Amino acid sequence: MKRDFIHVDDLTSDEIKTVLSLAQEVKAKFQRREDYRPFENQTLAMIFAKPSARTRISFETGFYRLGGHAIYLNPQDIEIGKREAVKDVARVISRYNDLITARLFDHAHIQELAAFATVPVINALTDYNHPCQIMADMLTILETRGHLEDLKIAYVGDGNNIVHSWLRLAARLPLHFVCACPPDYTPDAATVQRARDAGPSTIEILHDPLAAVRDAEVVYTDVWASMGRKHEMEVRQKHFQGFQVDSRLMAAARPSAIFMHCLPAQRGLEVTDAVMESPASIVFAQAENRMHAQNAIMLFLTGRT
Ligand code: CP
Ligand code: NVA
Repeated sequence: MKRDFIHVDDLTSDEIKTVLSLAQEVKAKFQRREDYRPFENQTLAMIFAKPSARTRISFETGFYRLGGHAIYLNPQDIEIGKREAVKDVARVISRYNDLITARLFDHAHIQELAAFATVPVINALTDYNHPCQIMADMLTILETRGHLEDLKIAYVGDGNNIVHSWLRLAARLPLHFVCACPPDYTPDAATVQRARDAGPSTIEILHDPLAAVRDAEVVYTDVWASMGRKHEMEVRQKHFQGFQVDSRLMAAARPSAIFMHCLPAQRGLEVTDAVMESPASIVFAQAENRMHAQNAIMLFLTGRT
């Protein structure tokens, strides 16, 4: 049966660890500029209904460097679910391409795409989650700390698709995950419950950033208004007062704490320029690791491990 990557917990905990170590191997091959072309003669269709820098560039570059050819489809090309039914797009693309990645608004659309496609489908972000990001984040934390044990992550900001991805990961790997968000911007309650019920992790949803970052090894934030919600920015800026990651907040975490952000960042809003540029900031290593993590995911899904 074909495998998809729609949520990080579509993989078992052992599979997540396998993909992370595969990512380290593939990254080392890249750095040695080895001639490694497992996707020779293969094509990847990349459907984007939203803007992207990192995701588009890292998938396209990564697949090319692994010997394949990636096709970028912009929001006007397919107009998935509008010009054509999702289930029709899924079956048409499956007849041309060996893999599909898609960045869509509606999470139900990516689930339908995966259900009807006959080739692996990778979620490149929906309104609900961003599993490729979280795999890259774990790879970066693993490289920085050397291990993933006893990890406290404090996320400060909007209870959005990034938070849902952390929660879905927490259902598989033991984490202490704390989300500090304004009361009206909490993550999806069912996803919080699911992560708690799964057992391995400690999950806290708070409204006090200072309390959240105490003893944290990772302080993470994301934009206050995600794609599709940018029109709410004015009102959100008022509601998110006190939720900026600044030097004072970083100083309240562990002395060795690292700062992470999926990017793009709005400097001066959810994070200060000083924190972005500080030695604690590993945001560009994170961005680079998108490519290595995604390469590993594509290799894993297609059985090239
Ligand atoms: N982090 C991330 O997915 O960035 P883009 O939106 O630029 O792809
Ligand atoms: N939460 C952000 C993540 C961007 C990578 C968004 O959905 O816009």
